[in-house]
Amino acid sequence: MSERVYIFDTTLRDGEQSPGASMNAAEKMRLATQLEKLGVDIIEAGFPAASEGDFKAVSGIAGKLKNTQVAGLARASKADIDRAWGAIQLAVKPRIHTFIATSDIHLKYKLKMTREEVLKAAIEAVRYAKSFTDNVEFSSEDGSRSDRDFLCKVFEAAIEAGATVVNLPDTVGYAIPEEFGDLVKYVMTHTPNIGKAVLSVHCHNDLGLATANTIAAISAGARQAEVTINGIGERAGNTSLEEVVMAMHTRPNFLPMSTNILTEHIYPTSRLVSMITGIIVQPNKAIVGANAFAHEAGIHQDGMLKNPMTYEIMKPETVGLNRNQLVLGKHSGRHALRSHLKEMGYDLSDEELNIVFAKFKELADKKKHVVDDDLEAIVTEGILRTSEVFLLEYLHVISGTTVMPMASVQMAIHGRSVKGAGYGNGPIDAAYNTIAKLTGAESELLRFSVSALTGGTDAMGEVTVRLRENGLIALGKGADPDIITASAKAYVNGLNRLEYLKTHPVEASQTM
Ligand code: KIV
Ligand code: ZN
Repeated sequence: MSERVYIFDTTLRDGEQSPGASMNAAEKMRLATQLEKLGVDIIEAGFPAASEGDFKAVSGIAGKLKNTQVAGLARASKADIDRAWGAIQLAVKPRIHTFIATSDIHLKYKLKMTREEVLKAAIEAVRYAKSFTDNVEFSSEDGSRSDRDFLCKVFEAAIEAGATVVNLPDTVGYAIPEEFGDLVKYVMTHTPNIGKAVLSVHCHNDLGLATANTIAAISAGARQAEVTINGIGERAGNTSLEEVVMAMHTRPNFLPMSTNILTEHIYPTSRLVSMITGIIVQPNKAIVGANAFAHEAGIHQDGMLKNPMTYEIMKPETVGLNRNQLVLGKHSGRHALRSHLKEMGYDLSDEELNIVFAKFKELADKKKHVVDDDLEAIVTEGILRTSEVFLLEYLHVISGTTVMPMASVQMAIHGRSVKGAGYGNGPIDAAYNTIAKLTGAESELLRFSVSALTGGTDAMGEVTVRLRENGLIALGKGADPDIITASAKAYVNGLNRLEYLKTHPVEASQTM
């Protein structure tokens, strides 16, 4: 039997440290549920000492998940560990993840501590965490740039104090695969009690080597991989879950290890993360990018028709990609929609289904083929959004080569209809100016991005905006076959999210 590699997903913690990736509590819960379905072994749900919002999100997730281990991050201090335990104690399998830096550069400039002091702090933190739970992970921050023998000494002491997992991070993404694999071998052979713990690795992607380093570490004996969906994370991101898992799945001769991941949930999870965070997946991203299974060259297409294995090393279905599959038409009923959404991973309540069904019918009237990506956009728009203060009721835009772009807009604000018109430099600018006038919005537009969800000129356009008002930051999303309408919807969605944050200061504290 192949050896097991544990998948520790930190999308909700390190992933959320991606610039602009903040998620609210409801979104975190939704993602945690999806990660459980995907089959990850451990979900690092957050850093409870960081903010009240993080604490609440972690404890909500801990109370909800049925099988998966839930980890809370804590610095090597009693206060942090108390906070982490407070947040995760209701989990079926809680894990305290405590860390301290071990590299000389971090000791000298950041911690201003000696090696002896760090060793003592690591031991005390693990012992204290152990007084709450048997499931304790210890990380040596900046481990890859630490003195090898000091690293092994700290790991040995942490295991002796009760750590069941010791994690070796390449915090700044500095390692080279051969070197990192060699370091893992060194740790395995120079930490006398390593057999009593699982050795884990946590890589960052500053040199684009996070996946390669993680694979080298697994080959050398590491048995836990810390990863994020789509590789999001601090700076250039973390090791991507889908790449590591599919490397093991596709090359068992070289990597005879197994994971608990149900690979067909990879693509839906990737889409969910992108939709929630607003971070678009680059088209050429391995496994989950829009072009990952697209064959452009004639020779390739010819080969694919003769035998897909000529140019495809994985089947798209294996990762849950049924791209642009014709799913439903305008005559499809609620039952068909419900069961198809279920197959896609969305188990909706009756109330949620009503919303999605109405939007689906609206779209099916405009667009002949409604495909999975369209449905996903409808679900995100319809049920992943927060309470609506502002509702876009009507939008009419005039633009062209000889007219000044003008928008007429009708909106409901707290249920009361208002209308107005305004000009702009282009049709989207005109719509935004008018919406801002009607709502009194003072937010600044930090980011605006458009992408087409499906192929063809009738494709759904998806717009993401990032708004800032008085230090609060909110993402807005909108999808529609009409790109100007999608832009207006995204703006209104962003304004609603800002309103939500104004009245939920706990969640707002996460977004600053
Ligand atoms: O990159 C890092 O070192 C971390 C630790 C907290 C594990 O994220
Ligand atoms: Zn990290």
